[in-house]
Amino acid sequence: MIWLSPVYPSPQDDAGYDISDYQGIEPVFGALEDFDALLAAVHGRGMKLVMDLVVNHTSDEHPWFVESSSGRDSPRRDWYWWRPAREGMAGGTPGAEPTNWRSFFSGSAWQYDPATQEYYLHLFSRKQPDLNWENPQVRDAVYAMMRWWLDRGVDGFRMDVINMISKDNALPDGHVGPFGAWGDGRPYYLNGPRIHEYLQEMHREVFAGRPGRFLTVGETPGCTVEEARLYTDPARGEVDMVFQFEHVQLDQGDSRWDLRPLRLLDLKASLGRWQAGLAQTGWNSLYWNNHDQPRAVSRFGDDQAYRVRSAKALATVLHLHRGTPYVYQGEELGMTNAPFAGIDDFRDIESINHYAEATSAGQPAEQVLAALRTIGRDNARTPMQWDGTAHAGFTTGVPWIPANPNHAEINVTAQEGDPQSVLHHYRALIRLRHSEPAVVHGDFTMLLPNHEQIYAFTRRLGQVELLVLANLSSRTAMADQIPDAGGWERAEVLIANSPPPEPSQHRLSLRPWEARVYRRASGGYPRQV
Ligand code: NOJ
Repeated sequence: MIWLSPVYPSPQDDAGYDISDYQGIEPVFGALEDFDALLAAVHGRGMKLVMDLVVNHTSDEHPWFVESSSGRDSPRRDWYWWRPAREGMAGGTPGAEPTNWRSFFSGSAWQYDPATQEYYLHLFSRKQPDLNWENPQVRDAVYAMMRWWLDRGVDGFRMDVINMISKDNALPDGHVGPFGAWGDGRPYYLNGPRIHEYLQEMHREVFAGRPGRFLTVGETPGCTVEEARLYTDPARGEVDMVFQFEHVQLDQGDSRWDLRPLRLLDLKASLGRWQAGLAQTGWNSLYWNNHDQPRAVSRFGDDQAYRVRSAKALATVLHLHRGTPYVYQGEELGMTNAPFAGIDDFRDIESINHYAEATSAGQPAEQVLAALRTIGRDNARTPMQWDGTAHAGFTTGVPWIPANPNHAEINVTAQEGDPQSVLHHYRALIRLRHSEPAVVHGDFTMLLPNHEQIYAFTRRLGQVELLVLANLSSRTAMADQIPDAGGWERAEVLIANSPPPEPSQHRLSLRPWEARVYRRASGGYPRQV
């Protein structure tokens, strides 16, 4: 399946996550006819296509918001969160915002509208006003739009920050802590009071009874395993799976920009808990990367000496977990973070706003830039590296952000011709998922939870058992403490990212970033290839 990030008409304040027309295509990408042709071609290859659904907010240029902001008695006024200034304070003055909530893109989450003398809520940029899901007309309009896309033939939706659509009506102030001047409103809108009711209603109104099979995946920051079980329990009719954030926040402190080294033990404990927590009920989505995260090989791997091997090791570990793996464009090449020289090289509103806020609060520019280079979203947004020509073969025009200069070496064309490439390894992993039922359905058991270098686990289905061993470090490591090490030493290796060990070597010793998947079976379980 292909998941398309938003391709709808948009002022592009937040890379298309500010939508001004839910039922069209942004002209820079083409028109609805081009979309239909794409969809038909995808279906013609036996593939499916999933759209991004961004309905926590619209663009401020969406006709709904234009009408809503046209006057306090507009019929659509209540489609958004309009509130007066704090009692006794003049609108637009510092501190008069209805709550102290911080926006994800810096500053207040409220914008004052001098014309109607009220504020509107925007959890993201001021050009992304939040829709008021309390209003049943809003929900009906969203469901109608979703049905329109399904009628057109799309195969499902990735639902942007879907666990933010239900807010606590009382709009209490948030705790002021690491956020400086602004308060943390998240307890009042993450997994809010009516979220499960809304998702169940959406399921009934949009998907239930419709012929065909659809995929729904909710993006859910701040979602616990327990919440995820509720969201993804098939019996409850909400979504198929969620994107949780725990494992991509382990290298962050109090804020997103406060970076600290990732400890492998924490990563294993976190992902292991999600595997166990959704083993009986619900389902995991699996990802290292997306358009909001830095490149996996730069963050979790070694993008210098061991770029190829560490990209393959990370892929092997992720794809052998139980759940649905997602591959973000370029991850399958081992694309790396980009060498941003200064703030002018960034395009992302989140990075640009954070830089302005942090430097004006006195943080040294170099320190802020270091965090942006490490965790900033533009790392994932440089053009896809198709070949070694100008702009990485992505466009004959001028891209909005330059291609990573390493496209000369890291690109699709080069990797197509190299059977040892990261690209071929991803293909092999995907083939393995189709040929080996234990990869999809097998139980998951984490091994060696306290090993500082090795990520090890088994998957078991009936008589078949797989062992995944990966050395996620740049030093040699031994995995001989795994249960039944002697038995595993003789097992078949299904897939590996390095040549097999010499006969004289211990088979459970792993070179830096080496990963292997072993398979053994007892009884009559047939191997399906
Ligand atoms: C999550 C999206 O993934 C991100 O790119 C976007 O900025 C916010 N939601 C707001 O839509």
